[in-house]
Amino acid sequence: MSKTIFTIFMFLVATVHGKKMVPCFFVFGDSLVDNGNNNDRDTVANANFLPYGIDYPNGPTGRFTNGRNVADFIAEALGFADHIPSFATANGDDAVVNGTNYASGSAGILSETGKEFGDVISFDEQLQNHQTTIARITSMLGSSRAAKKHLGQCIYYVGMGSNDYAAYTMNPTRPSPDQYASLLIDNYSLQLRKLYGYGARKVAVFGLGSIGCVPAAYYMYGTLCMSATKTTSGVFNTKLRSLINLLNQDLVGAKFTYINTFGIAASKNSSFEYPNLECCTVTPGGTCVPLGIVCPDRACFAYFDGFHPTEAAAAVLAKRAFAARSPSDAHPFDIQHLVHAK
Ligand SMILES: *[C@@H]1O[C@H](CO)[C@@H](O)[C@H](O)[C@H]1NC(C)=O
Ligand SMILES: *[C@@H]1O[C@H](CO)[C@@H](O)[C@H](O)[C@H]1NC(C)=O
Ligand SMILES: *[C@@H]1O[C@H](CO)[C@@H](O)[C@H](O)[C@H]1NC(C)=O
Repeated sequence: MSKTIFTIFMFLVATVHGKKMVPCFFVFGDSLVDNGNNNDRDTVANANFLPYGIDYPNGPTGRFTNGRNVADFIAEALGFADHIPSFATANGDDAVVNGTNYASGSAGILSETGKEFGDVISFDEQLQNHQTTIARITSMLGSSRAAKKHLGQCIYYVGMGSNDYAAYTMNPTRPSPDQYASLLIDNYSLQLRKLYGYGARKVAVFGLGSIGCVPAAYYMYGTLCMSATKTTSGVFNTKLRSLINLLNQDLVGAKFTYINTFGIAASKNSSFEYPNLECCTVTPGGTCVPLGIVCPDRACFAYFDGFHPTEAAAAVLAKRAFAARSPSDAHPFDIQHLVHAK
């Protein structure tokens, strides 16, 4: 326990001071980094109630964790004074210029993913929202050339796919693991190329974590780790890593990098006293019961609810994505090298 806290403390001390290393940071993703985009939408994929946010300075915000999420820690590491605002609230000039977070809980690579939970924002729709931001930046900076230059200096976080696999697990007529991974990767490839077309050059793409090992899997399937899902998402991660290499070859000036979420999560497992129990009282669906009971020793748990990491676990992933501890954590760059990559 004390080791974890010490690590997080060092991370914060090292990054809390100083100015931002890049002008802007944009975030595309799902509930792992959603910071309130679903709050006012017609969806059950919401987390703007306690105990979510119990350790966040402003309380519940829509983040699906007790405190900060991975995008928040990366924004801090990049030297941003504030966390990146959600697209839902970002209309001030500051927000547009510092970056915007488009992430939406339950959303996926495929536009149909998560729609059974309501009006969630798919990756395609997140990219459309980014066009709105780009139009604002263009008018603020006076030309599309100036906007392109600005956008090319930003860091982009992209992390999608977990909910596509949640849907896959539930689908009785599912395609083979290889077919499904290919379908996702082919769509993802088009989307990431579109992001490049919108001026992105420094993009950190987060692979899937140990989605078959979340505490909710234990309650739903009576097993600590669903090996089928684990292997299935492994196929996706392998193809994603190859896609990143291909994008770097194909797209002039592109610096895409793959973050090995699964590998980092597997080694983080051993450093938490409770690696596969959730900290809050959960509903049968695996999310926290509103105003339900929470564990007091949250830094000892890897999971806050049945699916989502605690702030402590998010800090570990963000730290190793930013400054890799092993060469397999990030390929070909960790985020601090992505910042300086020419
Ligand atoms: C934008 O960045 C500036 C400089 O880091 C900071 O002072 C300001 O609070 C930020 N605004 C938002 C909304 O993030
Ligand atoms: C993208 O996914 C859809 C299913 O939502 C599929 O029909 C389509 O073929 C995929 N696109 C590519 C390029 O693989
Ligand atoms: C985490 O640890 C538990 C037991 O401590 C083990 O059963 C599980 O497979 C591990 N998960 C991962 C992703 O390594």
